[in-house]
Amino acid sequence: MKTNTQRCAIRAGLAGLIALASTTLAHGPKTAGQVAEFLDRQTTAYHCAPQIAVLEAARKRSFAQRVLGGDPTSHQNLFASGYFEPEGIEASINEVTKLANEQGKSLMACEPVQDTKIRNNTCVLAPEVTEGPYYHTAGHPIRGNMAEWQLGILFMMNVGVIDVNTCEPVSNVLVDLWHANATGYYAGHPNPRPDLVNEEPAKEGPRRGLLSAYPRTAHEETWLRGALPTDRNGVAEFTSVFPGYYQGRATHVHVKVFPEWQMLPNGTFTAGRLVHTGQFFVEDDLNEQIDKVYPYTENPLVKMVGRGRTRNWEDSLQIYQHSHDGGYMPTFEIEKLGGVLQQGLIGYVTMGVNMTADYRGKWNPTTGRGT
Ligand SMILES: *[C@@H]1O[C@H](CO)[C@@H](O)[C@H](O)[C@H]1NC(C)=O
Ligand SMILES: *[C@@H]1O[C@H](CO)[C@@H](O)[C@H](O)[C@H]1NC(C)=O
Ligand SMILES: *[C@@H]1O[C@H](CO)[C@@H](O)[C@H](O)[C@H]1NC(C)=O
Ligand SMILES: *[C@@H]1O[C@H](CO)[C@@H](O)[C@H](O)[C@H]1NC(C)=O
Repeated sequence: MKTNTQRCAIRAGLAGLIALASTTLAHGPKTAGQVAEFLDRQTTAYHCAPQIAVLEAARKRSFAQRVLGGDPTSHQNLFASGYFEPEGIEASINEVTKLANEQGKSLMACEPVQDTKIRNNTCVLAPEVTEGPYYHTAGHPIRGNMAEWQLGILFMMNVGVIDVNTCEPVSNVLVDLWHANATGYYAGHPNPRPDLVNEEPAKEGPRRGLLSAYPRTAHEETWLRGALPTDRNGVAEFTSVFPGYYQGRATHVHVKVFPEWQMLPNGTFTAGRLVHTGQFFVEDDLNEQIDKVYPYTENPLVKMVGRGRTRNWEDSLQIYQHSHDGGYMPTFEIEKLGGVLQQGLIGYVTMGVNMTADYRGKWNPTTGRGT
């Protein structure tokens, strides 16, 4: 395993090679020394191609996540080849921004993202479903891109909010999301309690299939957590990685909606009334496809005898069923961003919320209906 410093050196080596190729090489290496140096750099670069590929891929992914989640005017043909020039990420961004400006529109490799109109794919009044034990009452940053450096399939969540009393989209309500990473962990909760490392899932009772919640020990972590106010179409759009699953639970994304909220100087928020607590799901067919893709294949449950993915209808605490109550469809409607799954997905979902309700304090994560 190479250290980071070594990787940087390798990267510099490649940059050097490219610089050589585009400048010195344009005139050709002249002296024997130059030829030797060129060959040496080439050998170094080729030898380390796999590590470089990983590093480059991480940067491309980060870039893709950043532009998808951030400035809507700075991307076009995100997945087309040739965008990530060896001059580095800044050049790529400049290039893309220039293109975007020239074309004078908000850009994306595919259409649906520009359209933040709420989709008519749901029947609306959603029941309130537990927040589970992994919510952080303080510290979720206000941001559209919550991926940070997590690995996984790019996942845009297009979340609509309508008021069940008026059936109108609701703008400027804070949609707060959090979900597990590709291998099933929540930010801040990396390990089980030391005395519960070998705990077996509950065999019966309401918590059948579940383990005790992992305690919060990494207090600074915020990945895959984020909140954003809805726009004037009642939509908040997030960029993340597709969630993984963990023991006893089907793949899901948690959500809360706050109509009264305030941004704090450090980019997090405080909120007043809570009008919705819920969870979004994904069709099992898609989950099974995702399971075959790295790093979802690295979920520790894959290798454990008698464990594995929990399907929607087997979900512990019947949370999926609860979400279905009242005819609400708690699954994302998914579209591929590119030609294949690995290029990313966009999931649309709409919540009906009761804007005059107040569910603060209604859900106690420690009493039964947890996780
Ligand atoms: C949504 O779709 C359903 C079923 O296609 C239809 O009956 C309903 O009128 C639509 N509602 C709106 C607001 O377009
Ligand atoms: C942001 O500020 C609030 C209020 O001072 C504090 O509770 C919270 O922990 C801070 N969050 C981070 C990530 O610094
Ligand atoms: C998910 O988070 C856990 C705990 O922090 C970490 O060990 C794991 O590598 C993460 N998974 C991925 C795919 O990054
Ligand atoms: C919304 O909440 C208010 C206050 O709790 C309640 O009186 C009303 O019946 C609720 N409306 C719906 C449609 O559930």
